[in-house]
This record gives sequence, C-alpha cells and structure tokens, in this order.
Amino acid sequence: MSIGPDFDAPAERHGGDSLKWNRYGGRDVLPMWVADMDFRAPEAVLDALHRRVEHGVFGYARPWASLVEAVVEALARDHRWRIEPDWLIWLPGLVTGLNVACRAVGEPGDAVLTCTPIYPPFLSAPRHAARVLATAPLECREGRWEPDFERIEGALTPRTRLLLLCNPHNPTGRVLDVGELRRIAGLAERHDLVVCSDEIHCGLVLEPGCEHIPLASLDPAIARRTITLMAASKTYNLPGLGCAFAIVPDPELRRSFRAAMAGIVPDPGIMGWVATEAACRHGERWRSRLIEYLRGNRDRAMAAIATMPGLEACAPQATFLAWIDARATELADPAAFFESAGVGLSDGRDFAAPGYVRLNFGCSRALLEEALRRMRVALDRPG
Ligand SMILES: Cc1ncc(COP(=O)(O)O)c(C=O)c1O
Repeated sequence: MSIGPDFDAPAERHGGDSLKWNRYGGRDVLPMWVADMDFRAPEAVLDALHRRVEHGVFGYARPWASLVEAVVEALARDHRWRIEPDWLIWLPGLVTGLNVACRAVGEPGDAVLTCTPIYPPFLSAPRHAARVLATAPLECREGRWEPDFERIEGALTPRTRLLLLCNPHNPTGRVLDVGELRRIAGLAERHDLVVCSDEIHCGLVLEPGCEHIPLASLDPAIARRTITLMAASKTYNLPGLGCAFAIVPDPELRRSFRAAMAGIVPDPGIMGWVATEAACRHGERWRSRLIEYLRGNRDRAMAAIATMPGLEACAPQATFLAWIDARATELADPAAFFESAGVGLSDGRDFAAPGYVRLNFGCSRALLEEALRRMRVALDRPG
C-alpha cells in the first residue's frame, strides 16, 4: 500500500542548502519568507530523478518528445488550453523570462507597466532592460484585490509597450476571473500592448469553485500578443531544479523573445526537465493532497490574523502566501518587528507596499501555529 505525502512531517532543512532556512541560521527565527515550501517533492518525481541518476551520464541534452507532450497534455487537461509544441521556449527560471520579455518588446526608453504590490523582480526587470517602469496600484475592495482599470489606463503613455501581469497574483493570491481577463485583453488590444503573463502559481488555486484561466487561452487575438510564463516549480516544490518555460503563440514575438535570449540564456538542466515531465504526468494525486493541506493552513492563518491587533488580510484564493496589512499597528518596520519576535516574513517594501508583510504558509501546520503564536505574543506585548 502506498503511503501518501505527510505534510505534517517535512524534511529537515536546517544546515543544508536552503536559502529560506539559512537566512536565520543559528537564530531562533522561523523562516516564513521566500516562496518555496518545506515539503518533499512527489514520490513520482523523486523516482524519476533517481532513475535518471542511475543512468549516470549527464551529457548535453535536448528536450525530448515525451517531455514536450507531457507539458502540452497537462495544459489541455488542467486549463483547457491547447498549445502547439513549437510555441514552447524552455527557460532556467521565470525571473529570466520576465527579464527576457522586457528586452524582447519595444526599445530602450519605452515603458513597462505593472500593478503593485508585486513580486519584486517585476519592479527591477524593466530597469535591467533600460525600460521605464510605470505602476498602477491594485485596489482592495470588499476583501478582494482587483486591478483598478482607470488607474491602469491613466498610467499608460504612448511609449508603453509591455504589461507585466501576475496571475494568480504574488503577493495577494488573487486569481483573476474571466471578466477581468477580458478587460485586460481589451486594454492590450486598444493600446497595442504585449502582455507577459506570469502564471507560475497556476497549479495552486485553493479556493473551491475558483479556476485559473490562462490569459492566452481566451481567444487567438490575445494569444497573439501574450508571452505566458509557467513552470512546475511552485506547485511541486522544485524551484532549485531551475526549469521553466514560456509559451509564445505568435511567431514574430517568439523570434524577438528568442533573439533577446540568444547566447545568454541556457536551457534548463536535465534534472529539471526530468522532474517537470514526472510532475506533469504523475503529480496530480500529490497536488490535490497539497491543496487540501494548504487550504487548511490558509484558513488557520486567516483566522489567527483576524484576531491580531492592527493586522488585516484578505484570504488568498491561490498560492501559499498571505499578504498582511500591518499599517494599523503603526510599527515603523513591521518586518523587523516580527523578525525580532522570531518570525521571518517578507518585507512589503520590496513589493512597493510599505507597511505590509508577506507570510509563507507552505510549511507544516505545527510550524505555522508557532509562527502565529509568536506574532500574537509580540503584538500583545505592551509597547
Ligand atoms: C510570481 C512569481 N514569478 C516568478 C517566481 C520565481 O520563479 P523562478 O524561480 O522560476 O525564477 C516566483 C517565485 O516566488 C513568483 O512568485
């Protein structure tokens, strides 16, 4: 009888190579920051990696037919999106894809628009490509983070060529609905924008009844102006294996994207490819157990945060990230405050949102409970 994943008993990460855990090495600070989970990858992925290691030869590789077929089939099965194999461009990571997109679209001095708060590389990628960053804030309305279309229109200029979209959204966990996606598609059409849609969190929808819809799957017109970035890495906890892909249906845009990569961006490593194929083909049972566990963590975190003085959060529809508004605490530096209380959170300032913190609940329930306890004790302490 096969035993399912035990998310309550994650692997030991102290003293290893973990970016997340090593930040606080030797200090009693629980690492609830960078977006990886503390869980072992699915057995099917580990088995595939073991088999590949057993082969023992690690020469230069090319993506093989069954790997590409696994990705194509997974997109059709999970998101009802039919792609052609030659739309796929392999990348060593999504952040690489964001930076390549900024170089591939428009000219130096053109503008790139994104909505804040946002995962920090969205803010730095335009600058790396000598583009001008323009931002419009998301709005939190009735417990839901939404694009503010008036503010987006207002932030556009004749030199805006690219919109960087994040859906499901890091850090708020919002999953855009079909109406919002259609409005984004209409806006892109009217203003002749390319959209780079980072959909890395597409397998992590927690909210029952909520569905991830790839922007480019709406219709051929928006597909022609979209660069979609995806990976198995968030869902199956494989980011250290460095494997992602862009899906670019339009041949001309694909040529520009490839030209911006030329000579600089390598393919993923073999192990990343092997893990991606195994996750796409055999990961579903593990993923559904993960979603159940993360939903429990999310609900627990939301319930606890709701009782903490000065903190507010909307329940994320997707991801393992809770975006917490700490402005009412009037703390000058909430991230530093919680770190000194033994909880390492991401600082909202890095997401262009001072006064906020982000909590990663992709960990055992016990670790989450202890982090929430420490946060509560710190806030209750007389100032
Ligand atoms: C929205 C988003 N894009 C990209 C990444 C990072 O992707 P990669 O590690 O493949 O560069 C993350 C990681 O947290 C993310 O949340």
